[in-house]
Amino acid sequence: MRLPILEDLPDPRGKRVLVRCDFNVPISTAADGTRTIDDDLRITAALPTIQWLVDRGATVTTCSHLGRPKGGPDAKTDLGPVRARLAELAPGVSLLDNLRWDAGEEANDPAFVARLIEGQDLYVDDAFGAAHRSHASIVGPPAHLPSAAGRLLAKEVDILGGLLDDPKRPFVGILGGSKVSDKLGVIGALLDKVDALIIGGGMCFTFLAALGNPVGDSLCEPDHIDSCRALLDSGHRILLPSDLTALGPNDEVRQIGTAVPAGWKGLDIGPGSAADFSDEIADARTVLWNGPMGVFEDPRFAAGTKTIATAVADCRGFTVIGGGDSAAAADKFGVADRIDHISTGGGASLEFLEQGDLPGLAALRNAWGERGG
Ligand code: 3PG
Ligand code: MG
Repeated sequence: MRLPILEDLPDPRGKRVLVRCDFNVPISTAADGTRTIDDDLRITAALPTIQWLVDRGATVTTCSHLGRPKGGPDAKTDLGPVRARLAELAPGVSLLDNLRWDAGEEANDPAFVARLIEGQDLYVDDAFGAAHRSHASIVGPPAHLPSAAGRLLAKEVDILGGLLDDPKRPFVGILGGSKVSDKLGVIGALLDKVDALIIGGGMCFTFLAALGNPVGDSLCEPDHIDSCRALLDSGHRILLPSDLTALGPNDEVRQIGTAVPAGWKGLDIGPGSAADFSDEIADARTVLWNGPMGVFEDPRFAAGTKTIATAVADCRGFTVIGGGDSAAAADKFGVADRIDHISTGGGASLEFLEQGDLPGLAALRNAWGERGG
């Protein structure tokens, strides 16, 4: 059963449409309390859907979560800055208060679903970044209102689904970020799809430890060393760093091999690894990158991530960045516009790649099937 899209909805003219967006954008707070949006990609990415509905005469109400508030309204998770930006981009479109200010959202409480859809005629889910959450605003409305995936959600599923179904080869995956425990599932799933999997970032140290390297004070999850060893023994092509940039006592920074001395901490892949990984990426016809290679916010440990970001941008194959920190890195290193697709979902894109489906997608498909779609 395919995903219902906007064209599958009844004519939206004169109708009230609830649109679930993922406006969970990074926001900085100045000393005087002023809050500014650092990156509005998740807002602009929802505009095609909003505009499609507005052009057809619908009254659009958007809704979203922001952050992870616990127990009701607070200033830190007020959607005010998003509401202001939305008013500039899509005048006349309203935005409800942070959905997570009501405990019913995360609990998927039917009473909260009922309040949310009251007075609405149609429901559109365009919140790819939250489609892995079985929350009220995501899985609830499709059972009650004619519902469809918005343009952004449909496009994300199309592109990420294409990577799983029929990637052009060689297909190179690049994973980084701090915790290997969060990514064991997706590593297993990706290894069956890719021709080579590059592993950098904090998570590489559990793999390096599995190969018998001392890791010093680097991030390492001892409980997962056996799982990493099993993956390394699985016969798939896993590429680990052969050198590192490390921070030692007295703030000394050094290039080292893969043995991290006691008192030292590996915080980036080294230049040799970055060059080897770049060669691998240059030959790829499909690239998927999720997670930075090091602590790129610190200029001393940015080189690995910058080199990889540039290699992905230079690659002539089809390139996809899976949300979150690697999207921020592509932006920071000025290569974002040379990437074919930057996903608006970090956790959601990984879970989709691992499971091949998400609760938000299943809710739309099932409801549509029951309506005879
Ligand atoms: C995200 O930024 O990952 C999404 O908006 C989902 O947010 P969550 O991880 O707090 O559910
Ligand atoms: Mg998240």
